[in-house]
Amino acid sequence: MPPGHCRMRPRVLPRIGCSATGRDMNEPLTILGIESSCDDTAAAVVRGRPGSAEILSSVVYGQTDLHADFGGVVPEIAARAHAEKLDIVVEQCLFEADLTLSGIDGIAVTAGPGLIGGVLSGVMCAKGLAAATGLPLIGVNHLAGHALTPQLSDGLGFPYLMLLVSGGHCQFLLVEGPDTYTRLGGTIDDAPGEAFDKSARILGLPQPGGPSIERAAKGGRAERFQLPRPLLDRDDCNMSFSGLKTAMLRARDGLVQANGGLTRQDQSDLAAAFQSAIGDVLIEKSRRAAQIARSRGTRLAHLAIAGGVASNMAIRGGLETMCRDLGLEFVTPPPKLCTDNAAMIAYAGLLRHMRGDHDDMTLAARPRWPLDQNSPSLLGSGRKGAKA
Ligand code: KG4
Ligand code: ZN
Repeated sequence: MPPGHCRMRPRVLPRIGCSATGRDMNEPLTILGIESSCDDTAAAVVRGRPGSAEILSSVVYGQTDLHADFGGVVPEIAARAHAEKLDIVVEQCLFEADLTLSGIDGIAVTAGPGLIGGVLSGVMCAKGLAAATGLPLIGVNHLAGHALTPQLSDGLGFPYLMLLVSGGHCQFLLVEGPDTYTRLGGTIDDAPGEAFDKSARILGLPQPGGPSIERAAKGGRAERFQLPRPLLDRDDCNMSFSGLKTAMLRARDGLVQANGGLTRQDQSDLAAAFQSAIGDVLIEKSRRAAQIARSRGTRLAHLAIAGGVASNMAIRGGLETMCRDLGLEFVTPPPKLCTDNAAMIAYAGLLRHMRGDHDDMTLAARPRWPLDQNSPSLLGSGRKGAKA
């Protein structure tokens, strides 16, 4: 199987019939997806129909090295790198899918939310391709891409509860249809990935911080440090992670003052304590989000996760146990589909195209674009760009 290729395991298929345009929904579509909302330039080709699609190719060009000296993503550097790499990743994904643009039915592109320069680069690239080929242009909400990933990877049917947990986002979404999302709660300050990255820096561990902390935590004793579990005293499923990095800073400074520096064991113990604090909050708040969804009358049978932090095995393990307690099935897309990628954008675009819904050349890049327009905003703008 070529790299990035992922065979689908259809589970619960949505109803197959005719779309609003009269298109036969049994006829598979082939969609090119483009993603450039943060620090990954990505393109992918997905072929199929709702609930049963195959990733023909998925190319991700990461920018971690370009931002390494700056302690975070620098928007201007990101936008320039996207502009340089977009046509290369598009060409590469078509090559890997053994296709040319004449084999494509539509061009899906992330139109927000995200760092505006990067989103603009992707939207301009997609508009150029659509204008040159006459193919339909489909603007996609990046968060919808993440939220629909369990359907792409596992054929999961609606409704389900989604914990979207990444470097720029953290929210519980009740996903009841390809365009029906209710945000039940989310972080009121930092996203967990952001907290992982900042805490890794505090410990002198390399970026991205999530994988470094997960590695360091393996030999650690979490119980050595008592870190806070914010907002657990509240019944809702909102979360706060900014106080955790302050607590990490204090714990580190205490050790440095007492011993003149950190040993490898100190690093491991602090990493384990941090991971366990984040995990406890995500697990307990997931339990409450599921209870809230059920209390609203939703027949909830699945909790799914997506976003970079969803690849953390310790957190996955804790969520799995919690799901068993609540009689929920835990759906975990492969890590490659949890982090930013264009296959999820192509699939979200496929669902829109099937509904006969596209954009024209006035498609705008949006720094902010909440999926659930009815929930009040919880967040300001963070290190990884606008959040929703
Ligand atoms: O979804 P993503 O690729 O990009 C966006 O932020 O949209 O997520 C990246 C974030 C980074 O903050 C990274 O440190 C975190 O996900 N991450 C992890 C792990 N792998 C990536 N956090 C915890 N454990 C991991 N194994
Ligand atoms: Zn993302």
